[in-house]
Amino acid sequence: MSNFWQEISTQSGSALGRKKPILCIAPMADVTDAAFRYIIAKYSKLPYITYTEFVSADGLVLASEEGKKKLLKNLEYKEIEKPIVAQIFGSNPENIEKVAKLIVGLGFNGLDINMGCPDRVVEKQGAGAALIKNSKLAREIITAAKIGIKEVTKKLNKEEIPVSVKTRLGYNKDELEEWLPELLAENPAAVIIHARTRKEMSKVSARWERIKKAVEIRDKIKSKTFIIGNGDILSVKDAIQKCKETTADGAMIGRSILGNPWFFSDHIPDLKERLGVLSEHIELFEKKLGDLKSFAIMKKHFKVYLKNPQLKKLRLQLMETEGYKEALDLISRYKLPN
Ligand SMILES: Cc1cc2nc3c(=O)[nH]c(=O)nc-3n(C[C@H](O)[C@H](O)[C@H](O)COP(=O)(O)O)c2cc1C
Repeated sequence: MSNFWQEISTQSGSALGRKKPILCIAPMADVTDAAFRYIIAKYSKLPYITYTEFVSADGLVLASEEGKKKLLKNLEYKEIEKPIVAQIFGSNPENIEKVAKLIVGLGFNGLDINMGCPDRVVEKQGAGAALIKNSKLAREIITAAKIGIKEVTKKLNKEEIPVSVKTRLGYNKDELEEWLPELLAENPAAVIIHARTRKEMSKVSARWERIKKAVEIRDKIKSKTFIIGNGDILSVKDAIQKCKETTADGAMIGRSILGNPWFFSDHIPDLKERLGVLSEHIELFEKKLGDLKSFAIMKKHFKVYLKNPQLKKLRLQLMETEGYKEALDLISRYKLPN
């Protein structure tokens, strides 16, 4: 699998069961972690592209050995999660180049650079959404990633992996017409556009009509880059419909996957199954990330896993738990209604 964006969208992709639109799981810090990604891969059948949570490129280069080890935990994955893309953030081209090499070595299918994150800590480093205000540096960063990939793949006799960029419509205002061509000039394999500006955060509805505009801009300059829309997708059906309306190559799904590892399957789990998979998810979270992350992170998923009036009492009790043992115990003792 070299350029999986191409493969998943063409004949060889159709052998996997689906052509366009390409569906992707959004990178979400403390949501699409190694435990949840594995659970999704196990219970969702459609081919889709997985993204990791974002990881600091500077951290991967400059942190202490202990710090690096922690960051690398965010980049652990299993084969069933493939194709999988590692998302990084940073503003130092040298470090981006080094990390691109590392990502190839770790066996990822693609590398994504975050140019949309509004987090102050990220922006303070000139990374994430701050790059929308600095297109020169944004372009240098894409180039640096490609150089790193080229060099290391040549050395290892491996195939090059594609670079994508995930961004927004603009910073304070919608500046798609100016911003997108800057990115396209560097020929990334895909640009994922969260259809809101940095200023809007997630407070307004995603403007999918601007994804349509993004496709027009791409087509006008005859670029081959895939345009992937992102924002407010509720279901696979919704994603397919939005891609049809906008002619986007694909859609990326964020918050709708929380607590719903069946998102990419036709299967509707019954209550017993929901509880079983939730327990499996909690156990895996503890095993993979328990020493690194707070158990409170798991609670983000409870609401949807247990979205049923019959499970309300259990849900409320689980929200009060303080650790995985207590939560697993509560679930195992719970008597399902007949
Ligand atoms: C909890 C959370 C964490 C996120 N972390 C990241 C991240 O690490 N990298 C990134 O590019 N976007 C991140 N995002 C943004 C999402 O990838 C996505 O662009 C946004 O949620 C809009 O899509 P949605 O409406 O389908 O949720 C995050 C969003 C949420 C809610």
